Amino acid sequence: MNTVENIKDLREQVKSWRMQGLSIAFVPTMGNLHAGHLALVEAAHRYADKVIVSIFVNPMQFGLSEDIDNYPRTLAQDKASLTEVDTDLLFTPTADIIYPKGFGENSYVEVPNISDLYCGASRPGHFRGVATVVCKLFNLVQPDVACFGSKDYQQLQVIKTMVEDLSMPVEIVPVEIIRESSGLAMSSRNGYLTANELAIAPALYKSLQWLSTELCASHQPRDYAALVMQTSEKIEKAGLKTDYINLCHATTLAPAEPGDKEIVILAAAYLGKARLIDNLPVSL
Ligand code: PAJ
Repeated sequence: MNTVENIKDLREQVKSWRMQGLSIAFVPTMGNLHAGHLALVEAAHRYADKVIVSIFVNPMQFGLSEDIDNYPRTLAQDKASLTEVDTDLLFTPTADIIYPKGFGENSYVEVPNISDLYCGASRPGHFRGVATVVCKLFNLVQPDVACFGSKDYQQLQVIKTMVEDLSMPVEIVPVEIIRESSGLAMSSRNGYLTANELAIAPALYKSLQWLSTELCASHQPRDYAALVMQTSEKIEKAGLKTDYINLCHATTLAPAEPGDKEIVILAAAYLGKARLIDNLPVSL
């Protein structure tokens, strides 16, 4: 696997593959890779001839109170994992390369409405940072296809909306959530959890499964607010602190209305030093 850090080398490799008529799939990441990320790379191989992965801990999507310096960086290990899944090219730019003016000064991409909800409300500016860096990476890599995990369900919808609104010539492929055997969604942030917290954490997904079963159990209109409240109580009883639980329209993420058939349960909860997110689509 070849690794490039600067834009010139990246563009040269992309151009050479293009001249050979090869298609390109792209997997953007922030590194500290686990089986969830590697599943994206494996999916990417099914869509194109060449797979490019980026590792860039994007300062623009971290809030002032969020500790970017402590975000886990494990480049040597990540390179070994990416080689095992036959990654063709790894792009590891520095912040100076992505934001030469400093990220407060550059142009940005704002995806309205959807970016202000849920995780966007808890993390103001987060989705502007995500949309901006993904747009920039798309312009650098110029992929035919890009793979994103459904684990970050709202992020996936923000990216899909950006691509549609701005007519970006890239197909967005969602990849399903990879979980530990306990049900806990794999995440780089799980590394912040102690052994005791790791035993508690699966309660988040279990509570979402309970809510999904309740929602599907009856054809009668359900009291969404009461069910959400009960779910939150289950999460808190297990020892997590609920940030939000929402029943949402599966694509717009607007609050689910009675009669919506495809909905998604979105949830975030705090546990020790980590903020965990999870979701569960439900067909009614
Ligand atoms: P990061 O958290 O490193 O995630 C990179 C990709 O891996 C995202 O598409 C995410 O949804 C996916 N992913 C993470 N955990 C997963 C799991 N358990 N199962 C399946 N997919 C999983 O998300 C980001 O980085 C950044 O916001 C980024 C898009 C790179 C922009 O900076």
